[in-house]
Amino acid sequence: MCGIFGTTLHKGKAAPVIHQALERLEYRGYDSVGLATIHDNKLSIKKDQGSIKDVDSKLNFDELCGKIGVGHTRWATHGIPSFENAHPHMDCKKNVAIVHNGIIGNFIELKSELERKGHIFNSRTDTEVIPHLIEENMMDEDFIEAVRLAARKLEGSYSLAAISTHSPELLICVKKESPLVIGIGKNANFCASDVSAFLPLTKKALFLDEDELAVVKSDKIEVMNFRTGQDIQHDISEITWSTEDASKSGYKHFMIKEIHEQPLAISNALRIQNIYYDLIASKMHKAEQVYVIGCGTSYHACLAASYLFSKLAMLQAKPIVSSEFIEQYGHAINKKSVVLAVSQSGETADTLDALRFAKKMGASIFGITNVMGSSITRLSEVYIGQNSGPEIGVAATKTFTAQLSVLTMLAVILAEKKGSISNNELEIMKKMLLDVPKVMKKTLSTEVKIKKLVKRYKDKSSFCFLGRGINVTTALEARLKLLELSYIPSLAYPAGESKHGFIAVVEEGYPIIFIAPKDGTYDKILGNIMEMKARKASTIGIIQAGDEKLKQLLDDYIEIKDGSMNFLSPLIYIVPLQLFAYWMAVERKCDPDKPRNLAKSVTVE
Ligand code: G6P
Repeated sequence: MCGIFGTTLHKGKAAPVIHQALERLEYRGYDSVGLATIHDNKLSIKKDQGSIKDVDSKLNFDELCGKIGVGHTRWATHGIPSFENAHPHMDCKKNVAIVHNGIIGNFIELKSELERKGHIFNSRTDTEVIPHLIEENMMDEDFIEAVRLAARKLEGSYSLAAISTHSPELLICVKKESPLVIGIGKNANFCASDVSAFLPLTKKALFLDEDELAVVKSDKIEVMNFRTGQDIQHDISEITWSTEDASKSGYKHFMIKEIHEQPLAISNALRIQNIYYDLIASKMHKAEQVYVIGCGTSYHACLAASYLFSKLAMLQAKPIVSSEFIEQYGHAINKKSVVLAVSQSGETADTLDALRFAKKMGASIFGITNVMGSSITRLSEVYIGQNSGPEIGVAATKTFTAQLSVLTMLAVILAEKKGSISNNELEIMKKMLLDVPKVMKKTLSTEVKIKKLVKRYKDKSSFCFLGRGINVTTALEARLKLLELSYIPSLAYPAGESKHGFIAVVEEGYPIIFIAPKDGTYDKILGNIMEMKARKASTIGIIQAGDEKLKQLLDDYIEIKDGSMNFLSPLIYIVPLQLFAYWMAVERKCDPDKPRNLAKSVTVE
C-alpha cells in the first residue's frame, strides 16, 4: 500500500504540512518515511526506515525549507524497509523527487534499459525507475511532458507525486489504479492517497480518474489524460467526513474497508514477477515431501493450496497448522523436504518455530508474507511478498484472498513445469485467475442481501458451515470469521463428515450454511442439504447464480454471479461469508476491528 502526500503553498513552509499529513496516513504503511522539498532551487530530502515519530525525532522533518514538497509513508513491496528503499526517490542529478504508491509491473525491463543508458540506481525499489525515466525524458522535454511520457511507459498500478527543480512551482500527480485525490485549499493545493490526509486543511476535493495527470500549482489545477493528452474538467466535491471516517475511506470499520479492497489486493498479488514462482515451483517439483504450514486464516490458505497443488499439478503437499508441524512431521523432515510457510505478518511464533526447526534439519524453506523484512523473509530461501498493504482489522480478509491468489498462481506455474495440464488449459486458468478481481467486485454487491440475512439469523446461538472439496476451506474460514468477530460458537465440517457426529445436534431451525457451487461436488452436497432439511434445519446456501434447483430447496440463498469458478471458488465464495461475519458483529454490537482476546500477530507459542 503506502501513503503519499504533496503540497504546493503560496507562502509558508511545506514540510510541517506534509509531516502532519503523513501522520494521518500512517495507517497505510509504517515501515519507512520520507519528505522532500525544494528551496532556493535545490532539492532536500530527509528519509529513513522506521515510524514517523522515530524518524522525525532523529531527522526533524519540519526543519526543511521550501513552499513545495512531497512525502511518503511506506509499506514495503519491492526491497526491505531501509534508508535506500525509503521514498522519496531521486534521479541521478537530484533534480526530480518522486513518491509512489503501487507496483510497477515492468520495472525490471525499464531498469535495465535505464542502466544501459548510464543511470545509477541506489535502491531495490520498483519506484526508482520513475525519476530516472523522467530525467531521461527531460533531456528533450519540459517537466510536465517528461512526467506524462514516463507515465505512459509504466505498467502496473501507480499513483505518484513528482517535483523538480526545473519547474519549482509545479507538483505533478499521476493516477492509475492506486488511489490519488487532489485537495483544493486557499492559496495552497494538495495531493494525497486519501482525503484523511488533508481534511484539517480543506474539505474541497477533486477525485482523479484512471490514467489522469494533474498539474498542481498553489492557485491552479489542470488535469489531462496522460495517454491522449486531452484536457479534463472535473467537478469539485465537498467532503463531509471527519478525519477519523476518512482514514477508513468513509467505511465504519477497517475490516469492511479491507473486505471491499479485495479486488485491488488480488490484482496487486497477481502482479508478482514470475521469477519468484519459478524458483519455488522448481524446488517443490524436485522435493520428496512438501509441507504447507500456517496458523489461523493463513492455515486455511495452506489447506486450499494442498487441493490446488494436487488437482492442478498432481503434487502431494501436506497442509498442517504450524504448532503441530514438529510433533507430527518433525522426524520425517530432511534435506529433500520443502516447507512453504504462509503468514500475513511473517512473525507468527509457531510458524517461525517450525521453520527454524525444518531449516536445522536441512529442509528448503519458502515463504509467502505481506510484510517485507519480517522474520519469514529472512528465514526463507525465496519468499513472495503478497502486496496487500497493511491490514488493520485483526481478522484477516484481504490478505487471505491475496494469499490464495498467490498460491493458486504457484499451483498453475507448478502444473506448467510438471506438464500436468495442457497449454490450452493453462491459458484458460491464468485468464480465469486474472478475472477474479472483476468477479469479486460483482460478488461484493451481495452485501445488501447479506445484511437482511443477518437480521433474520442474528439471535441464533450457533451456526454450522458445510462444504466439500476445496470449499471445505471456505467453510472453515467462514466459521473462523464468525467465531472471532461475533463470538458465536460455530462448527464447520467437510459436508460428508457431517453425518459422523454433527447431525446429532441438528434440530428444528438450526442454521446450516452450505457452500455449494456447481462443481464436481454438487450432487453430493445436494444430498447433504436434503439430509439436513429432513431434520428441519434452516438451510442457507452460497450458490451459483441461476441454480433453480437449490433456490427451490434452500430456505435462504446468496447467488454468486459468474460463480462457475471451479478451482477458484474459495476466492469468491468466501466474500459473502466475510460480509456475513462482519455484519453479524455489527448487529450484535461487537467491535469487528478489535475482537476480544485476539491479536493481529501472535508472537508467543
Ligand atoms: C492471528 C490473527 C489471524 C491470523 C493468524 C496467523 O490469529 O488474528 O487473523 O490469521 O494470527 O497470522 P499470520 O500473520 O501468521 O498470517
